[in-house]
Amino acid sequence: MLFKQQVLLRQKLLVLGSLAIGSLLYLVARVGSLDRLQPLCPIDGRFGPRGQAEIPLRALQFKRGLLHEFRKGNATKEQIRLHNLVQQLPKAIIIGVRKGGTRALLEMLNLHPAVVKASQEIHFFDNDENYAKGIEWYRKKMPFSYPHQITIEKSPAYFITEEVPERIYKMNSSVKLLIIVREPTTRAISDYTQVLEGKERKNKTYYKFEKLAIDPNTCEVNTKYKAVRTSIYTKHLERWLKYFPIEQFHIVDGDRLITEPLPELQLVEKFLNLPPRISQYNLYFNATRGFYCLRFNIVFNKCLAGSKGRIHPEVDTSVITKLRKFFHPFNQKFYQITGRTFNWP
Ligand code: A3P
Repeated sequence: MLFKQQVLLRQKLLVLGSLAIGSLLYLVARVGSLDRLQPLCPIDGRFGPRGQAEIPLRALQFKRGLLHEFRKGNATKEQIRLHNLVQQLPKAIIIGVRKGGTRALLEMLNLHPAVVKASQEIHFFDNDENYAKGIEWYRKKMPFSYPHQITIEKSPAYFITEEVPERIYKMNSSVKLLIIVREPTTRAISDYTQVLEGKERKNKTYYKFEKLAIDPNTCEVNTKYKAVRTSIYTKHLERWLKYFPIEQFHIVDGDRLITEPLPELQLVEKFLNLPPRISQYNLYFNATRGFYCLRFNIVFNKCLAGSKGRIHPEVDTSVITKLRKFFHPFNQKFYQITGRTFNWP
């Protein structure tokens, strides 16, 4: 009898304990999300009507959940009307550099409650056919957002395409421009690796990196090779500077974004005049992936796709040395122009 009572008591305690833990977990999740309800500083001095500075809970649920991207397809007409959602032209653009970590930067900035990302690369300014469709076409490609939020898009081809600076200037001469760079030789190899993987997927053969990067006739660096040209950051930046002052650019250290993302993101928050909202809580190192992943709250987190963080093929050290020597003077100029120095060899 006594034994039966003890078993019953134990069972009751177990149920009560589970309930308590469940409630606690629920509360933690709620507090995590409520934290994102705090009022936001206005962007570019734009105050919405009273009360609009707060993000309604429903928006929050979108932002933190799988439906956090307000794209035309997943925001109902009622939601758009109810929350005064709009499709805004970007106030900031990640213009490059390809393989610098542009996707990671966009996704990480999207952790900020005042930022809304355009998920796809839109290629409006670098693609003549898209550009001919006009600015309204571009705006309609943007996600839905609250008027006080800022939309950010990324298309790394913008950085190296001749016509783009003038076209962006015509859209908004005060747009903020983000450039994420990596050590130029590593970036070139990453660029090559992406193309190589594409060829392999189609069962095609491809040249070795060494063969493409070095001109076999002169044994010098092959400046006609696109992966090399893209890494001459200063050449491209100089074209942009014909339209925009250097203050309108912010250079992100893509190598540091891999190993220590938070301080890099905090610098971007500052540049965009955003209140600091991205915290270490939002970023956790995933040992299996070998990269930092994103945590929106206790329930929702994600890592970047497997196509980000490929294993690079081994490259002949003499070719690496040659490339590094080649990029060196361009890097010095880049440091001088941007005011940001890197420890690139
Ligand atoms: P690798 O594939 O050479 O490692 P982009 O998005 O511009 O194509 O850049 C891709 C690069 O982003 C990857 O290059 C990877 O190193 C880098 N990266 C930076 N942070 C990352 C993260 N948290 N997860 C995955 N890749 C990240």
